[in-house]
Amino acid sequence: MNCESVILAAGLGTRMKSRIPKVLHTLSERPLIWWSVQSAYQATGRNPLVVIGPEDAEIRKVIGGSADCIEQRDRLGTGHAVMQAAERLRGKSDLVLVTLGDMPLLSTETLKDLIHTQMSNDGAITLATAIVSKARGFGRILRDQDGGIQEIIEEAHATPDQMAIREVNVSAYCFQAQWFWENLSYLPLSPKGEYYLTDIVGLAVEQGSRIKWVEITDENEIIGINTREHLAEAQAVLNERINRTWMLSGVTIIDPKTTYIGPDVEIGMDTTIFPNTIIEGPTVIGEDCRVGPSSFIRGSSIANRCKVFMSVVERAVLEDEVDIGPYAHLRTGAHLCRGVHMGNFGEVKNSTLGPGVKMGHFSYVGDSKIGEDTNVSAGVITCNYDGEKKNETVIGEDVFLGSDTMLVAPLTIGKGARTGAGSVVTKDVPEYTLVAGVPARGIRKLKENE
Ligand code: UD1
Ligand code: CA
Repeated sequence: MNCESVILAAGLGTRMKSRIPKVLHTLSERPLIWWSVQSAYQATGRNPLVVIGPEDAEIRKVIGGSADCIEQRDRLGTGHAVMQAAERLRGKSDLVLVTLGDMPLLSTETLKDLIHTQMSNDGAITLATAIVSKARGFGRILRDQDGGIQEIIEEAHATPDQMAIREVNVSAYCFQAQWFWENLSYLPLSPKGEYYLTDIVGLAVEQGSRIKWVEITDENEIIGINTREHLAEAQAVLNERINRTWMLSGVTIIDPKTTYIGPDVEIGMDTTIFPNTIIEGPTVIGEDCRVGPSSFIRGSSIANRCKVFMSVVERAVLEDEVDIGPYAHLRTGAHLCRGVHMGNFGEVKNSTLGPGVKMGHFSYVGDSKIGEDTNVSAGVITCNYDGEKKNETVIGEDVFLGSDTMLVAPLTIGKGARTGAGSVVTKDVPEYTLVAGVPARGIRKLKENE
């Protein structure tokens, strides 16, 4: 049996108090809607159809090729929202799955469970229920004496007795498609002037259909996002899930509550993540690394046995045994080869530091190539910007750059050369030559290995 899915996301989301549509707020580096689209896709194997509001063209762009969108012009309720999908989906599948765009943590397993239950059910509907401690405005499930589901009553219309019911409607349904598309048009207009999708349950029961259900026992799955407080709640749950997965696969996380790992991150065995660390994707971290505390890593590749201590690493590459921090800042295109040491208050951008380079304190290296085992002393700066364009600095192997050397690019410093403290180097320096002064002038020729 095949299954199409509809995700409702045309609501105004006014309680977010935001200029952007609710479902485009971010949860773990992804827009909220991405999570619902992903689980619907995984459960059905087909791209879902997302119902969006007339001012939500942005959602269409963000979802791109992973879902189709359809507009609901007047927001006349959840029933009216699915009616918009009828023309597109009628006759296309045996089953129809309906979920909400603002309930991102509902799992693929739950959706598959709904689909499988409906497959083996000759009734019209299978829906997800949960027994909760706080009903949080959810519709309540009304059952008859035999325990069969009779109706869903919305909180706004519930009597005090019905309000006391703790079994709620999650808003995840699987329908027998033909029946569903035929009967949607019989939904009554509610006293609030809306078409409630929930009223379809009463309709099915009236026609003698028995309603099946799947009970969700993990309350975290059904966190619906209406406010920014809910968003933070969902983020906390997602972090817990992601961190648990990494701990189970052999990563030590000292303080999971303050560790944020994105969905596009990979971490190798026996790596330790210290508190207050944020790792965003796409990032790969190898084995036996020590990352944090208080570090931020994004879009980077870090090999094995590296140490990143209180530092910021953005779109950079660290080969094995690189050791940076505290307070190192690697920017786009920084490539630190095997065994590089970079100490406090250094910044590297669009540059390669060859194997074993030492850059201990207060340096800026931009648009440069530095050869193996070169020493970059305290306060060395590549003056790469002449006010118009960025210029390159090429530094050979085994060079010793004295403290506070200013390298005015474009510039080439030959293998084995040295600069005296405070030099301002404006001309290329040949191999094995010592230069010093402002601007630096040649002093004498050095012997190899001197
Ligand atoms: C709905 C259910 C309720 C359930 C709850 C779970 C109805 C009538 N009630 O209530 O039983 O417990 O979800 O969260 O279905 N939307 C549209 N177009 C509209 C109205 C809503 O696309 O015209 C979308 C919204 O973007 C939202 C979703 O449908 O994602 C739910 O709508 P909302 O008005 O928040 O319904 P609830 O009061 O949460
Ligand atoms: Ca809601």
